[in-house]
Amino acid sequence: MWLRSCCVYSTGLVCILLLIAGIAMVLSQVFLKLLNNRIKEQIILENGTEAFSVWQNPPPPVYMQFYFFNLTNPAEVLNGDKPSVVEIGPYTYREYRPKEDVKFMDNGTRVEAVNPKTYVFEPDMSRGSEDDLVRTVNIPAVTVMEKFKDSLFRRFVFDLMMSSGEGVFQTFRVGALLWGYEDPLLKELKEFVPDYHFGLFYKKNGTDDSDYVFFTGRQNYQDFARINQWNGQSALKWWSSDECNMINGTDGASFHPIITKTEKLYIFSSDLCRSLYALYESDVSVHGVPGFRFVPPSEVFANLTVNPDNAGFCVPEGNCLGSGLLNVSVCKEGAPIIMSSPHFYQADDKFVQDVFGMNPKKEEHETVVDINPLTGLLLRGAKRVQVNVFLHQIPGFSQTGKIRTLVFPVMYLNESVVIDEESAKKLRAVVTEANVILNVPFIVISVGVLLGVIFIVLMCRQKLPQSSAAERQPLLSS
Ligand SMILES: *[C@@H]1O[C@H](CO)[C@@H](O)[C@H](O)[C@H]1NC(C)=O
Ligand SMILES: *[C@@H]1O[C@H](CO)[C@@H](O)[C@H](O)[C@H]1NC(C)=O
Ligand SMILES: *[C@@H]1O[C@H](CO)[C@@H](O)[C@H](O)[C@H]1NC(C)=O
Ligand SMILES: *[C@@H]1O[C@H](CO)[C@@H](O)[C@H](O)[C@H]1NC(C)=O
Ligand SMILES: *[C@@H]1O[C@H](CO)[C@@H](O)[C@H](O)[C@H]1NC(C)=O
Ligand SMILES: *[C@@H]1O[C@H](CO)[C@@H](O)[C@H](O)[C@H]1NC(C)=O
Ligand SMILES: *[C@@H]1O[C@H](CO)[C@@H](O)[C@H](O)[C@H]1NC(C)=O
Ligand SMILES: *[C@@H]1O[C@H](CO)[C@@H](O)[C@H](O)[C@H]1NC(C)=O
Repeated sequence: MWLRSCCVYSTGLVCILLLIAGIAMVLSQVFLKLLNNRIKEQIILENGTEAFSVWQNPPPPVYMQFYFFNLTNPAEVLNGDKPSVVEIGPYTYREYRPKEDVKFMDNGTRVEAVNPKTYVFEPDMSRGSEDDLVRTVNIPAVTVMEKFKDSLFRRFVFDLMMSSGEGVFQTFRVGALLWGYEDPLLKELKEFVPDYHFGLFYKKNGTDDSDYVFFTGRQNYQDFARINQWNGQSALKWWSSDECNMINGTDGASFHPIITKTEKLYIFSSDLCRSLYALYESDVSVHGVPGFRFVPPSEVFANLTVNPDNAGFCVPEGNCLGSGLLNVSVCKEGAPIIMSSPHFYQADDKFVQDVFGMNPKKEEHETVVDINPLTGLLLRGAKRVQVNVFLHQIPGFSQTGKIRTLVFPVMYLNESVVIDEESAKKLRAVVTEANVILNVPFIVISVGVLLGVIFIVLMCRQKLPQSSAAERQPLLSS
């Protein structure tokens, strides 16, 4: 009897202790801090650490896929008809992008590096070859006409073009259009132009886009691998578009040490001439690793009526093209290049209707970034942009015929990466471990509650015979 009640009371005592310990753990956040410390130790760029070698040579393959729009009715378009295009591709390249010339600075709080990209054709992931032909806008010719339309040399340029038979549209080898070819018209005008080669990715193979300075995360782990400077300019809001590091750090007190759903994520993109931001859209899972999907909201591309903040993208000032388009002429040496999402996704319907063959689809044509919230690592990303040319009748150049004023799609690209299975396995382990660690206080509390229930049951059992005996007594005595 004595032994039994001792057992019951110790159950009660242990229950109370567990409850106090569990609640204390929740309130003091010890396990959250423990976890933060563990993650902090792992994410720092330091010679010899795994994070450093992954940063220097990211293991998951990055693919660059190009799709072209093959024009089927050039003569009709010059006569004022709507262009009709057929999408061809993908022409897929594996992108290698190691960090080179790595130098640590300021006691290892920052690191300097260049990030040259090399593109190698992947026939197995392509439909067609680099020798395929594509009929599209002759960008050098259009650029030259735009440049000389008000110049004294207009007639000279016009005659040159007539004699060589160059017009608005021409057929090109895919490889040449991408990586560069010698343009005969530009060659004739070489006194006026810096280079008589043209290609959408001319000189982009094996070259770096200037120096980057990254934070190592030593000072503040949330800055891990964040870009500090690019090309000597301070880059507070710019984040590298390649790895795990596109995120503005939160204050660390939140449940997810690195990323929350309310984050505004900046995507650094040197070929867009601007940075882009993305907002949380949904929960996803990549190779079994949980992630948050971020996509650029439609306001990013909206016209001024919808988003007055976009006034800065109307160039020259006050000259707005409508939703979804960006005039990047200034950073393309005066070529009338206009960027958009593929198939004019999220752009004014007018641009979609202006060309037969446009078919914008959210899943295929939006830019997405999937991030593991716990570590801030990139699980999957796809940057999708389209290159267009602004076409209209250019005075003094009969080559432009009766062409409509329109934004003509030339090509779009999808630069994508998915975490490799090996890294995903490691990350799954980290996430599982984190879930266990974070749940320890709740497990302790649950065990406490369970013991409490057992305690109450035992107490009732123990009390029951006694009380019934006590009730019976008066009966007997009466
Ligand atoms: C990292 O360490 C290795 C060997 O200790 C050395 O050769 C290399 O230069 C170091 N790298 C950097 C960026 O300091
Ligand atoms: C580097 O560390 C040393 C010793 O801790 C310190 O004296 C020095 O000021 C630090 N230098 C920089 C640039 O932070
Ligand atoms: C890029 O350069 C690499 C190495 O120099 C070469 O192997 C590859 O074929 C080049 N890619 C293109 C598209 O020219
Ligand atoms: C693109 O169109 C041109 C002209 O019609 C044709 O010769 C070429 O084969 C087409 N390209 C592809 C890849 O279908
Ligand atoms: C990004 O972080 C910096 C400093 O941590 C802060 O000043 C800035 O407002 C943040 N930007 C956004 C968009 O949250
Ligand atoms: C701006 O976009 C909205 C929605 O797409 C559209 O209704 C409106 O007409 C556009 N305004 C201008 C000035 O184009
Ligand atoms: C694009 O910008 C350039 C340079 O700022 C300007 O000359 C051109 O007219 C603009 N194009 C369109 C279609 O607005
Ligand atoms: C890239 O995007 C295109 C559509 O924009 C899609 O067809 C293709 O499968 C994507 N590539 C990868 C590797 O996800």
